[in-house]
Amino acid sequence: MAVGIGIAGAGTVGGTLVRRLMADRAMVTARTGLDLEVRRVVVRDLTKERAFSLPPGMVTADVMDLVTDDSVDLVVEVMGGLEPAGTLVLAALQAGKPVVTANKELIAARAPQLVAAAAASRVPLLFEAAVGGGIPIIRPLAETLAGEQMSRVMGIVNGTTNFILSAMTEQGWSYRDALAEAQRLEYAEADPSADVSGADAVAKAAILAGLAFGVWVDPARVHREGIERISGEDLAAARRLGYVVKLLAVAERTPAGVVARVHPAMVPLDHPLAAIRGATNAVFLSGAAVGELLFAGPGAGGDPTATAVLGDVIDAARELLSGSQVAPRIAFGVGEVAAFDEVETRWCLRLEVEDSPGVLARIAAAFGDAGVSLRSVWQDGRGDRATLLLVTHRAPERAQRAALAGLVVLDVVVEVASTIRVEGDG
Ligand code: NAP
Ligand code: HSE
Repeated sequence: MAVGIGIAGAGTVGGTLVRRLMADRAMVTARTGLDLEVRRVVVRDLTKERAFSLPPGMVTADVMDLVTDDSVDLVVEVMGGLEPAGTLVLAALQAGKPVVTANKELIAARAPQLVAAAAASRVPLLFEAAVGGGIPIIRPLAETLAGEQMSRVMGIVNGTTNFILSAMTEQGWSYRDALAEAQRLEYAEADPSADVSGADAVAKAAILAGLAFGVWVDPARVHREGIERISGEDLAAARRLGYVVKLLAVAERTPAGVVARVHPAMVPLDHPLAAIRGATNAVFLSGAAVGELLFAGPGAGGDPTATAVLGDVIDAARELLSGSQVAPRIAFGVGEVAAFDEVETRWCLRLEVEDSPGVLARIAAAFGDAGVSLRSVWQDGRGDRATLLLVTHRAPERAQRAALAGLVVLDVVVEVASTIRVEGDG
């Protein structure tokens, strides 16, 4: 018996998925015993040319067709955004239809409600493609590592920003040219400000934190800084100190609760994440018993992402046909989510200062007064001015910011040109 698939969205991911479901139908049947048939596709613009051809009437513009059409057994949501995607996913689950989605924004924002709806209808809600594109990371976290005490998750989870930072660092491209190329290669979101501002990574960080620690983290509580202000000087300063700059998503358990954050960070050149270039994504997990694990691969693009969606479709179709009344594989318990202030970080500060006797002592005193210890100091003097690169030891964010406040008021500090956190070397 064929399983009827309804797909909302036929853009970068959905268009590839439809094409592959049609072209690889016999291969999927041979490998899985499942016959997956595309029965309906929903798009916004019915006049747009598509990379696939379907009989008239099968492509419509009303997402609720996927819920009301009885020939659709399983719903795939690859349109993106909170609405109407959220209404569609909830209605499909409530109608007892399994749902597969790649929509990290929706899952991050409404996971508790959607997981509860899936549990009530006893149907799967799967979202492997929502984090890391083609990398299997959701299923390993939710299933294989379900019994592990995770301590930290650190990842490069946005392909667009990693592509931009790699092109600026390695090829000397401008930020603008690198972003245009990432858009041409279809890595970027429809609105690329979601990528460069860190918003896309925030949704992914919230999902990873939820899965790793079993606590739903509201994306509004994830600290966010994007890459818009990273300059060629910052990348050169990082290289001088033996680091490379990456946009990181970090989630960790602190004594006060789980903290998730997204910001640019300097990563030592010998750390596994430093080698992750271009649109590649990687998630580095630390667990009490399992130790360290690295998941890496293509984090964006139609084909890798469609592979992850297709895997979920096969999984959900198998469950649907077996009639097994599964409990949801993903559960978010109740737990403390702590404020960003609580987390201990290390900072690298790039300062322009007056080059005169006693300057370093006054700068060091600003750190000492805030309870922050300096780990290294690099100086390049040029007559009456000098560039300073200061790297601190770990200290609470609140203390790092107090040190910064003490620095900016010093008359010998001409400019705090940048502050970038340091991760991955103690
Ligand atoms: P996209 O290229 O912009 O495609 C979106 C599709 O949804 C289009 O076909 C669009 O129709 C349709 N659509 C949008 N709003 C609609 C509405 N109100 N009613 C009906 N159809 C609507 O997006 P994408 O890059 O494929 O991304 C889809 C989802 O996958 C997003 O949640 C994204 O975050 C996620 N994702 C993307 C990637 C990636 O590499 N692109 C990777 C992982 C996850 P038209 O074609 O008529 O405009
Ligand atoms: N725009 C996203 C990225 C797509 O660049 O990683 C994958 O979620």
